Amino acid sequence: METIIKQHLAEVEKTAALNEHDLEQFRIKYLGKNGILNQLFEEFRALPSDQKRVAGQMLNQLKIAANEKYTSLKSEFEAKSTSATDNSDLSLNVSSANYGARHPMSLVRNEILQIFSHIGFTVEEGPEIEDDWHIFSALNFQADHPARDMQDTFFIEQQPDIALRTHTSSVQVRLMQNQKPPLRAIMPGRVYRNEAISARAHCFFHQVEGLYIYKKVSFADLKQTLLYFAKEMFSVDTRIRLRPSYFPFTEPSAEMDISCSICGGKGCNMCKKTGWVEILGCGMVDPNVLENCSIDSNEYSGFAFGMGIERITNLKYAVKDLRLFSENDIRFLKQFQNVI
Ligand code: PHE
Repeated sequence: METIIKQHLAEVEKTAALNEHDLEQFRIKYLGKNGILNQLFEEFRALPSDQKRVAGQMLNQLKIAANEKYTSLKSEFEAKSTSATDNSDLSLNVSSANYGARHPMSLVRNEILQIFSHIGFTVEEGPEIEDDWHIFSALNFQADHPARDMQDTFFIEQQPDIALRTHTSSVQVRLMQNQKPPLRAIMPGRVYRNEAISARAHCFFHQVEGLYIYKKVSFADLKQTLLYFAKEMFSVDTRIRLRPSYFPFTEPSAEMDISCSICGGKGCNMCKKTGWVEILGCGMVDPNVLENCSIDSNEYSGFAFGMGIERITNLKYAVKDLRLFSENDIRFLKQFQNVI
């Protein structure tokens, strides 16, 4: 009997359960009702009393060893299965994936395009590197107009006739040259001006130009179109006001203010306590411009307007420093993740 117990002891010692099924097999084999220990105790009872002392000790040793082995393997599995449960707990929050988001300027640009598409405006684009004629001459700028000045415009040194466009109005010229009225288009794009970079100015920014050319287009049409835009873009209570202004390519010309979208017109820092903020330039297309683009100014008239997308975004999201738009600071951009 002693040799059998010794063999079992050695087997218990080297047992390493690979899974819970193995562990249960071990328990049944040694500690179960009909297991080896019970059988051995049965046999032990029948031993002659002189053999009982040594066999009894060994049997107890085996019993302790088997129990200890079982508990230690069991706790090992329990520890493992708890961590497995942690990983697959369906009630835990999902770790958030690092999704990208649209740039606030793109969001606002898309919104502007959508608002105008609802009233039949198509989208047109043109080159950023443009010739003097499309940026200035065709648009009725006199040869000595200050906008042509080297201070404002980035010219190409080797080719003084070529420049980075200073406004998207160059695209309306291209459109009028290439298509016949009725024309109803909106023209988004990047423009460049030689300005020192600050919170309020940048050497590049974005504009959206609008153009409508047809028979008997009036200033009332322009005003109504812009009122519709202001209400759609900001809120139905938004009011507009037009102030006389000057652009070489429109006559009459105006600048449009909207009631401040931040304070609702009561007066705040954004509107410099006036309740109004300027958002765009507009006017009736100058007959000279129509003629420059081979459109009969006796038959057709039209309006044009142009706005800075940065300005609209500032008002919409109260962004105070426009440098933020081009710095790609992820902390700034992330704030727009849930917009639209
Ligand atoms: N091009 C003008 C600017 O850049 C804006 C404008 C466009 C004004 C169309 C009138 C008509 O400031």
